[in-house]
Amino acid sequence: MGSRDLVTRVARAAGLCALAALALGAAGCTNSGANEQSADVVRGKQLFVEKCGACHTLQRAGTKGTTGPNLDDAFHIARVERWGDASIRGVVYAQILYPGAGLVMPAKLVEGRDAEDVAAYVGAVAGKPGKDGGLLATAVKQAGGGTPAVEKSGRLSIAVDPGGQLKYVTDTATAAPGRVEIAMPNTTSVGHDLVIEGNGVKFQTPIVANGVAKGSGVLQAGDYVFYCSVPGHRQAGMEGKLTVK
Ligand code: HEC
Repeated sequence: MGSRDLVTRVARAAGLCALAALALGAAGCTNSGANEQSADVVRGKQLFVEKCGACHTLQRAGTKGTTGPNLDDAFHIARVERWGDASIRGVVYAQILYPGAGLVMPAKLVEGRDAEDVAAYVGAVAGKPGKDGGLLATAVKQAGGGTPAVEKSGRLSIAVDPGGQLKYVTDTATAAPGRVEIAMPNTTSVGHDLVIEGNGVKFQTPIVANGVAKGSGVLQAGDYVFYCSVPGHRQAGMEGKLTVK
């Protein structure tokens, strides 16, 4: 995005903060001094990963979503022009509350204090190279390392990471040859599916959010992969190996 674009956004953010303050009956503006001190960036990082990361890449948060703009790129020019964290924070806060009608990003995925914490975290790290330190370094546990999924009585269940990371809870599964019913529980609001592919066979579930996606197919002995076919999700880490024997 161009810097002019961002300037417009910050001006808009300043106006919206005043509005937000009125609406919340409190100091809703993240540009105001008092709140700035008290924002909890550790919680902000956790919420960002859970609620925003499936759609946005943010290097320091370890998220790789591609549905929305890469937030490091979005604020790169702002950093070059030496904008403070608070300005970026104000833009992010306004975006969370008022993303714009008819667009892809849902409004108020986080609200109140949560929105302030997320905005404070993004304001502190977007467009900055390097790694998070201190408490931020351990704020989010990397998903995907769970115990392998094992087929039982013709059923194989592989859940989506409930914490919002673009991962299934495990990247390893095993099954016996034969017909298998697959299930993909997904407690997040971001849609995913489960594709099983290998040995000339491919079958999958529909894309489901907030529910359990189901499908079925026939497996022969051999090696398969499983992954999410929503654009960008497999590349971000939603894949694993299924061994049939
Ligand atoms: C469902 C996907 C999705 C989720 C979840 C999501 N966003 Fe977005 N976001 C987008 C898209 C797409 C855009 C571009 C504008 C649009 O089409 O809505 C965007 C735009 C933005 C922008 C403006 C970037 C720019 O270049 O102008 C910011 C900042 C932002 N999002 C922050 C967040 C934060 C913080 C959260 C979590 C509270 C979040 N987003 C959750 C999809 C998402």
